[in-house]
Amino acid sequence: MIRIGIVGTSSISERLADAVRAVDGVALGPVASRDGDRAREFADRIGAPGAVRGLDALLSAGEVDAVYLASPNAAHAQQVEAAVDAGVAVLVEKPATLAAAEWDGLVARAREQRVVLLEAMRTAYDPGIRSIAEILPRLGRVRRVSFRYEKRSARYDHVLAGEQTNIFDPSLGGSALRDLGVYPLHALVLLFGEPRRISGARVGIASGTDGLGSAIAEYDDLVADVAWSKITDTALPSEIQGEEASLSVDAIDAPRRLVLTPHGGASEVIDVEAPENPMIGEVERLRDAVRGADIASDQDRTASTLRLVDVLLQRPLR
Ligand SMILES: NC(=O)c1ccc[n+]([C@@H]2O[C@H](COP(=O)([O-])OP(=O)(O)OC[C@H]3O[C@@H](n4cnc5c(N)ncnc54)[C@H](OP(=O)(O)O)[C@@H]3O)[C@@H](O)[C@H]2O)c1
Repeated sequence: MIRIGIVGTSSISERLADAVRAVDGVALGPVASRDGDRAREFADRIGAPGAVRGLDALLSAGEVDAVYLASPNAAHAQQVEAAVDAGVAVLVEKPATLAAAEWDGLVARAREQRVVLLEAMRTAYDPGIRSIAEILPRLGRVRRVSFRYEKRSARYDHVLAGEQTNIFDPSLGGSALRDLGVYPLHALVLLFGEPRRISGARVGIASGTDGLGSAIAEYDDLVADVAWSKITDTALPSEIQGEEASLSVDAIDAPRRLVLTPHGGASEVIDVEAPENPMIGEVERLRDAVRGADIASDQDRTASTLRLVDVLLQRPLR
């Protein structure tokens, strides 16, 4: 049984705990929080076997085989390093690091020490993305891709009220691009590879980070536009246009309803069967990696996505 300790006590950790309970071969390990009481309260709530104060205590207690790191983005790299050095497998929330070079260094370290290091990019392990990959040949030559993830966050109201909140706090790596933009970018890399070139623009908000943005990614024979936002909503689907057919995708982070429309033909609706909890796939992948599955290509996709984020972050905020 692979024991997974949880670091961070927000709602996403609760969701991960629920996924752990749904996957064979893994079990919840102790919870770590910066605050001992919060760790205990959270462990009781999710049914975890113990609680400790701080990651170091978790790593030195010898009660976990893996850790799930769900802290603010700026804390990821240091926590990954500590876990890797302790020989404990890591599932780290997206974006795995603030910059691609940081990720490359951690992957090299993990490979050297033969420790599993995987980004918790749920989209990569989603049945909906697998369905899209299977349908792609029916589209003919793909010429345009239009992926978006735009959802106004309730926490934006705090920014509007003049308060700082982690997810929009640049000192913690908060950013709409890092929070939501990485999903369509990762899906793009997974389905079409890393683009030759990317450029874009981001719109800044009062907290000092980006609230939304758009990018154009260039390939040899297709172009992709990618949109993300945490301050506005969209009613538009994502889409892949091929010369033979186009495919509309309800949500590129977790595709559940696909509509295939052949050139000059009638549309076909394809519903994707998927577990209710979209984090199950990443827990299964972590388990398989600990059992020896090769995750080099998963790590490379994370690197590609982070390289695109690096470029998009270079442009000053508007
Ligand atoms: N996969 C998904 O669908 C999904 C959804 C949401 C978020 N995420 C990712 O999950 C991560 C956490 O996001 P979140 O919105 O849950 O963040 P958050 O609420 O700001 O922080 C998560 C946890 O980290 C700890 N923490 C808070 N501030 C910290 C700091 N300055 N240094 C170290 N630890 C700190 C807190 O736990 P303690 O106080 O108990 O230590 C907190 O519960 C991010 O990387 C985000 O991108 C993923």
